[in-house]
Amino acid sequence: MAKLIVSDLDVTDKKVLIRVDFNVPIKDGVIGDDNRIVAALPTINYVIDNGGKAILLSHLGRIKTEEDKAKLSLRPVAERLSELLKKPVTFVPATRGKELEDAINNMKDGDVLVMENTRFEDLDGKKESKNDPELGKYWASLGDLYVNDAFGTAHRAHASNVGISSNMPQAAAGFLMEKEIKFLGDAVENPRHPFVAILGGAKVSDKIGVISNLLNKADKIIVGGGMTYTFYAAKGLTVGKSLVETDKIDLAKQIMAEAGDKLVLPVDNVVATEFANDAPHKVVEGNIPDGYMALDIGPKAIEDFKKVLADAKTVVWNGPMGVFEMPNYAKGTLEIGKALGELKDATTIIGGGDSTAAAKQLGIAPQITHISTGGGASLEYLEGKELPGIAAITNK
Ligand code: 3PG
Repeated sequence: MAKLIVSDLDVTDKKVLIRVDFNVPIKDGVIGDDNRIVAALPTINYVIDNGGKAILLSHLGRIKTEEDKAKLSLRPVAERLSELLKKPVTFVPATRGKELEDAINNMKDGDVLVMENTRFEDLDGKKESKNDPELGKYWASLGDLYVNDAFGTAHRAHASNVGISSNMPQAAAGFLMEKEIKFLGDAVENPRHPFVAILGGAKVSDKIGVISNLLNKADKIIVGGGMTYTFYAAKGLTVGKSLVETDKIDLAKQIMAEAGDKLVLPVDNVVATEFANDAPHKVVEGNIPDGYMALDIGPKAIEDFKKVLADAKTVVWNGPMGVFEMPNYAKGTLEIGKALGELKDATTIIGGGDSTAAAKQLGIAPQITHISTGGGASLEYLEGKELPGIAAITNK
């Protein structure tokens, strides 16, 4: 369903509350990856270039103790935003009260303000994370218009997304939200075929929902990474010391029976004696020997997967093919990423932190059609779930 977009609003002279996802990796005040800040710029710029006042709300990390607050202030994020926008950004170290209200009332058209981490409210009864009705109403009272650009948070029903939306006459999507819904939505609902999904990562349980939802939509589902070996066990292969979710073996059998040759598993693997980069390791086909654990897909699997990808017109990739943080087990993930980057005339979509990191490491990010800013949100979207943050945006 088409959503109201920020460009449908008349933002001139208006106080525009914008929910962004600035939940970026941060350590000792230093931002590790500013991707999510960069991705929010088009919406912020649209509002200020059209004479609106941009009031930004975001969570950062999870706040459980007073000490967390010192580590997870949005101040460094506001500073980075100011550099990216090339203009001053007012940071208010409060999530409510006079200081915040005065700062908002003093804003001029074109000004940008960032309030403190919305999850500071979680110390007092999880008000943000549990969508406290009073908090959503209060935040809504601070602005004239509301724009939700936080796709990464869309799977959460927070006061700052669902709560504000329900206290405003209308809620619009920002340009990032619009883009995410378009690419992920088209891939799931209206893909160009052949449509190939590549799913990796440690656990079958994390990806079951996606596999089930894509079984009837995708032409092939490539499986790699730690979750592979639960499927191996389901096939009756030996798995050595590999990661296996024993309580998911029956489910894996069921999926294999339903999927038939749609499901593509690696025929060989790089196996090691320990979970360590310098442990003795080798390539084996089929059964994983006793005393060994599989830590990457093998060279034949890489070739098989590349053949499946060769004529794909839509590819969605979520999750690494092996322990790619360790150079000896990175090849599967890197080769698949490279193959994705080389595809011509295909829509390629990457979701999830690890696959995104691999794409960056390879320098193929510019060749990928869309790299989602959502981790959990993109997975739930691919599972076909309704995301509360998106559901709360006004339909056109
Ligand atoms: C994310 O990074 O996936 C979102 O910002 C949501 O964060 P959360 O998992 O802490 O709710």
